[in-house]
Amino acid sequence: MAHQLIDGNNRPIRYMRVSVTDRCNLRCRYCTPSADFVSLLHSQVLSYEEIERIVRILAPHGVNSVRLTGGEPLVRKHLQRLVHSVSSIPGVDDLSLTTNGLLLEQQAEDLKKSGLSRVNVSIDTLKEDRFQWITDPQGMRLSDDLSSVMAGLMEACRVGLTPVKINVVLMKGFNDDELEQFAELTRDNDFEVRFIEFMPMGPNGFWNEDRVMLADEAKTRLRRYYPELDPLGRGEGSGPATRYRIPGHTGIIGFITPISSHFCVQCNRIRLTADGKLRTCLFSDQETDLIPLLRGNSGDNEIFEAIRAAVREKPRGQEITTKGPAACARTMSHIGG
Ligand code: GTP
Ligand code: 5AD
Ligand code: SF4
Repeated sequence: MAHQLIDGNNRPIRYMRVSVTDRCNLRCRYCTPSADFVSLLHSQVLSYEEIERIVRILAPHGVNSVRLTGGEPLVRKHLQRLVHSVSSIPGVDDLSLTTNGLLLEQQAEDLKKSGLSRVNVSIDTLKEDRFQWITDPQGMRLSDDLSSVMAGLMEACRVGLTPVKINVVLMKGFNDDELEQFAELTRDNDFEVRFIEFMPMGPNGFWNEDRVMLADEAKTRLRRYYPELDPLGRGEGSGPATRYRIPGHTGIIGFITPISSHFCVQCNRIRLTADGKLRTCLFSDQETDLIPLLRGNSGDNEIFEAIRAAVREKPRGQEITTKGPAACARTMSHIGG
């Protein structure tokens, strides 16, 4: 068997997050760059063939999990073609997608048939007016978007894109009074609702320390409604969430704690940006441009060696709490979380 991809701190790399586009059909305040930002040109974005090639090169070296992200991955045309080709690569046994859910109802069934295993859906509020406020700062869209997202969520369950996870970025003064409603979603549905500590990302200025709600505070609030939270530990495959079940509930809740208790020691991830840069840590702007290799005459071996060299330099951990938003020059919409 080919040797495993292992970083300079002895962490095996098993999981690649691939941003398929920097475009998005929402403009979440904490994610989107400023209005004068120009999207990548089609020619700057990795083609499906290029993405497939990279996964094909890495899968024999132990990269078995691939997550498609964006921007919003479902706005890229014919995504099911990429899903089909990547899920057919020997060694890829978990192909997942993180989406805002707006286009999920229409696409879920095709994605499932094409080989997608599961989806994570971002929903920060269950209230329509707040949803519009956080996702549409300029008030440009219709107001039934939250219903479309909820319909997408149910459709994902129906077609078996499971476990369906819901991502809730906790923001004080915005959604910290909705913890119970989110937890209630797990009563009869087999969802995993994950509360995520708000990370200082990128230059758009929305993040601010006063908005951060740490997982411990969220747990304390939840215990007012649900005195018992049964710990389940981290999920399979070292996902970042610490999980609990509320007794009697079908689904589970989780906390993702990049601020209060980071999980870098167990990090098994690398990222590929839409414009073909390999990023070995969410919070490090150290990137390796793979486009010249992919579009030059480089063979697979040469590409693998370039990736291996970058992975060797993967930072041991992140400095988000000390550096604040300056830790990362790109916004989330360019990295895909
Ligand atoms: P699974 O556990 O495989 O379902 O995926 P995931 O939870 O890693 O993926 P998702 O895209 O749903 O991300 C959930 C949250 O975790 C987002 O806020 C991500 O930004 C964050 N996250 C994912 N990977 C990392 C990481 O390596 N470091 C940090 N700090 N945050 C991460
Ligand atoms: N902090 C925490 N999570 C974030 N996400 C986007 N920006 C941030 C941030 N600053 C989440 C999105 C999505 C996932 C990919 O990352 O809500 O669910
Ligand atoms: Fe789009 Fe996701 Fe960013 Fe919101 S968080 S603007 S849905 S990429």
